[in-house]
Amino acid sequence: MRGVYAGVVLAYVNGELCAPEAARVSPFDRGYLFADGVYEALRVTMAGAGAGGDPRVVAPHRHVRRLARSLGALSIPWPAGEMLTVAKQLIEGSRLSEALIYFQVTRGVPGLAGRAPQALRTHVPPAGLTPTVFAFIRPMPRLDTAELAPPTKRCATGADMRWLRCDIKSIALLGNVLASVQAAGAGAEEAILLRSTPLGRVASEGSLTNLAVVRADGVLMTPALESASILPGITREILLDNNTDLAEGVVTEADLRAAREVMLLGTTAAVTAVTHLDGAPVHDGGAGPITRRLHAGLMELVARAGEDI
Ligand code: PDD
Repeated sequence: MRGVYAGVVLAYVNGELCAPEAARVSPFDRGYLFADGVYEALRVTMAGAGAGGDPRVVAPHRHVRRLARSLGALSIPWPAGEMLTVAKQLIEGSRLSEALIYFQVTRGVPGLAGRAPQALRTHVPPAGLTPTVFAFIRPMPRLDTAELAPPTKRCATGADMRWLRCDIKSIALLGNVLASVQAAGAGAEEAILLRSTPLGRVASEGSLTNLAVVRADGVLMTPALESASILPGITREILLDNNTDLAEGVVTEADLRAAREVMLLGTTAAVTAVTHLDGAPVHDGGAGPITRRLHAGLMELVARAGEDI
């Protein structure tokens, strides 16, 4: 592949691998006009692949299940399992062994043949569109599962302005973008979102991660899916399945501000310790013991469990 990103990034559009500079989709695609589409972000690593093994996607079947759910919510007809075939092509074609794959499916481009001109942009999608599939792979630092100290981040709280279907992994991320920009302006690395609900202000998730806290009374809790319109994150799900002391419930703003430990959960974040919240130190500005335990446990699972994590 030639071009400025040669050997660093490889793209995929509708069945073809290509250099990123050569990737083309129509601006009439409903993904471009309406954000009418969904996505996944997959971690590729050699960790857990075994001696002589190939790079692999972490928790592939959980990602396929979530993609199927997101596609189903939008009634976009596309076989979610195909994502892993595309991932394999991107891994082999790029020869990257530590990487992130961004993968999105949008509803497609309304052709004009046999349609009224207004079909080019109608809120109700015309029937029979072919989804547009776009993906790319880019390198990531090696996932060092022997490094048990969690990554850290300084966070700022921000208003959760997003819609009520954040359970769909939609490509419409303006609420996340605005919150991230605001947090960056306050010198923080990520926003933790606070949503107004009938129960008062509750913490929902990070602008690109799920959230968990060790409350002042010692209870380890992650916001329940139904408590605040959040993404059912894969990392969160893996941790819930492997840590019986991790409870799901309502995390109020007061719980968050008084928490002994605050952590962010995600495919790229793993279990990240929040060291500062709105400038105030959390757990004396370092990673607390429960955060360390959850991170080490996740790394152990990734290192040992192969595809079944
Ligand atoms: N973000 N919540 C939000 C809003 C997210 O965007 C993400 C992931 C998560 C964590 O989900 P998972 O454990 O499945 O990665 C939670 C991806 C990585 C992104 O947009 O880049």
